[in-house]
Amino acid sequence: MCGIVAYIGPKDAYQIVLNGLKRLEYRGYDSAGVAIIDPKNNLHVYKKKGKVKNLEDFIKDKPKSGHIGIGHTRWATHGEANDVNAHPHFTTSGHIALIHNGIIENYSTLKTELQFRGYEFVSETDTEVLVHLIEDVQKNTGANIEEAVRLALQGVVGAYAIVVASMEEPDKLVVAKLSSPMVIGYGDNEFYVASDGSPLVEYTKKVSYIEDGQIATLHKNGEIALKSIKDNTSFVPYIDELEYKLEELEKGGFEHFMLKEIYEQPQAVINAIRGRIDKTNLTVKLGGVEEFEQSFLNAKRIVFVACGTSWHSALIGEYLIEDLARIQVEVEYASEFRYRNPIITEEDIVIAISQSGETADTKAALELAKKRGALTYGICNVVGSAISRMTDAGSYTHAGPEIGVASTKAFTTQVTILTMMALQLAHKKGTLSKTVYHQYISELEQISEKIKIILKLDKRIKQIANIFKDSTNFLYLGRGYNFPVALEGALKLKEISYVHAEGYPAAEMKHGPIALIDENMPILVVATNVEHYEKVLSNIEEVKTRKGRIIAIVNEGDTEISKLAEFVIPIPKTSEPFTPLLSVIPLQLLSYHMAVLRGCDVDQPRNLAKSVTVE
Ligand code: AGP
Repeated sequence: MCGIVAYIGPKDAYQIVLNGLKRLEYRGYDSAGVAIIDPKNNLHVYKKKGKVKNLEDFIKDKPKSGHIGIGHTRWATHGEANDVNAHPHFTTSGHIALIHNGIIENYSTLKTELQFRGYEFVSETDTEVLVHLIEDVQKNTGANIEEAVRLALQGVVGAYAIVVASMEEPDKLVVAKLSSPMVIGYGDNEFYVASDGSPLVEYTKKVSYIEDGQIATLHKNGEIALKSIKDNTSFVPYIDELEYKLEELEKGGFEHFMLKEIYEQPQAVINAIRGRIDKTNLTVKLGGVEEFEQSFLNAKRIVFVACGTSWHSALIGEYLIEDLARIQVEVEYASEFRYRNPIITEEDIVIAISQSGETADTKAALELAKKRGALTYGICNVVGSAISRMTDAGSYTHAGPEIGVASTKAFTTQVTILTMMALQLAHKKGTLSKTVYHQYISELEQISEKIKIILKLDKRIKQIANIFKDSTNFLYLGRGYNFPVALEGALKLKEISYVHAEGYPAAEMKHGPIALIDENMPILVVATNVEHYEKVLSNIEEVKTRKGRIIAIVNEGDTEISKLAEFVIPIPKTSEPFTPLLSVIPLQLLSYHMAVLRGCDVDQPRNLAKSVTVE
């Protein structure tokens, strides 16, 4: 949520910052802005409501050359999306400019105090207090900019990743972080700063992820001073290698990132499995699970915490681990878990699932679990993300960068990891026979090829989307392993095509939602379960009797459901536990085509942002 980017060094900062904003736009697109310090040490601030393109057009003929630049793309929290509330924010004197990702929780108190001391606020944002506060500290103490930022932050409660530029000290940038993500890239006597590695990859692979509570001064001569905000203790930055590849950040000929990412799933699943299946002995091994094997085997419960699509993966994780490994599992919305005083003990394992590894509620839920003594485990996609660093162990999903706001390959790779986790635990606990265990591993290895077969149905799915593109409501039904898939299908449709959709366990329909069914209601039934076939068939009959329009995802060769449904999408067969990895693919494609046909902004749907770093 909100993207920040900055540059200091010998190159022209503007183009680097602008390109960075384009890469980070998925984090928020309510407004965008830049500030540049020119060679005569004047500070130019430009900001515009809407996407980065608006800003680019606005600045076209304006002065913008300079070697220091900061930029921001906003997902609005405090104050509507307009030019004034856009970042960078600057002091009344116009000497200091600042960009911020996060939330200043005590901004209201700070604002009242600053107003009392004569500071004038022009925006409705929480961020603006920071620039006035820094100026106030400088006025009262005569401190240089880095010390003023450090002292100002000591009075701030909340989450932040900030970059501060001052035209009075034009040879440095000051950056600081608490709870929001920030990465520093090292070039040749130059520094790049961003919310994640995507704006840096074309310039450098040498990066540092600065820790919470740290502040860094980045000098034009290539020196960095990293300190603690609390007591000025110095640190030596740890240099990491950035794992992004440039081509992963491009659309690669696809019209949208979402479509590209749907099509990347066969490879993403292979990447998630790679190195984790021993082909000689046909065994599964997740390093993190192996390291804490005894804790997993002795655990009283596994508790999943997650949000959105990752929460749907967690539900599938519950089905998998209870079914195969016979360990009790609970699934919690991270946002509820953190505030409801849950019972968590040292005998529990708390697993956070998060594509970004930065979701504020999921992080907070983990912190609570840690405080109560549980072993914590992270299933994340973004390497080096906060959740991957704060957990005792974990498994990366290796899906590669997911840019489309709607999660697709992150979901299938999370489910792949969960499937391997369940198989590994089941094998160790002896809850699966060796034959079934080996058969399941072979099936998992075939999933990628089966996804490729489903992707060939794209045209057919587009035709179905065309028929239903004007529908205003959808019901998604599924049983067993396909119930979370129904939820995920409904979420995908809602978030990118703005069509109201609800997911239900197929049998729950009779307890209320059936009242909605008439000849105008499309009902998508995920009916690939082998075990519940007869039951799903009866549910479909019930819908049919009420004239609902049925679209069914079925197994290839199905005859019965095909007689009842108006449209069928046949997909390759697999054993029950692997069903979600296949049945979700047509639902992703359906929502994609619905969104395109309805003229929606597929990759950047309204009101959403990719990484939800605020509660
Ligand atoms: C998915 O399509 C959504 N955009 C959203 O629900 C997302 O899954 C959720 O915000 C969790 O994000 P995370 O996986 O990065 O924690």
